[in-house]
Amino acid sequence: MERTFLMLKPDAVQRGLVGKIIAKLEDKGFKLVGLKLIQVDRSLAEAHYAEHKGKGFFEPTVAYIMSSPVVAMVWQGKNVVALARELMGATNPANANPGSIRGQYGMDISRNVIHGSDSVASAEREIALYFKSEELVDYTKAGEDWLSE
Ligand code: TYD
Ligand code: MG
Repeated sequence: MERTFLMLKPDAVQRGLVGKIIAKLEDKGFKLVGLKLIQVDRSLAEAHYAEHKGKGFFEPTVAYIMSSPVVAMVWQGKNVVALARELMGATNPANANPGSIRGQYGMDISRNVIHGSDSVASAEREIALYFKSEELVDYTKAGEDWLSE
């Protein structure tokens, strides 16, 4: 079953949106398999956004995710990488569908509430950056047999 890395960014934690966003992911039917509240340090922040090194928004984005705690999570489900990106909405909340997480809760690209892996390969890389394998929990969730055939 596919897994993705999702992170509730400092603005989501500070604005008290953690429960509301997790509820949307649970409601969709995804299974939470890893979760922790952490303070991201510079080496982790730079590794996370390595693909953007050299771009103008790299340093402000790194500073932002280091600025206050984040909720790091691993979610599992059928096609979860792409579906979680759909639920999150466009990178710039100003352009995001109003029903999406970024569309509902954000208004500026520099404070866009949530991160989600953009491919299965990115998910594997990001999960390994944030979690040790023993921090991910394999379990049967009530109702999961009602989600697909
Ligand atoms: P990106 O990987 O393009 O977006 P996404 O988070 O949707 O995968 O960019 C990473 C983060 O960098 C993005 O969530 C917010 C920030 N960012 C800016 O602040 N300004 C920008 O112009 C872009 C493209 C991103
Ligand atoms: Mg990205």
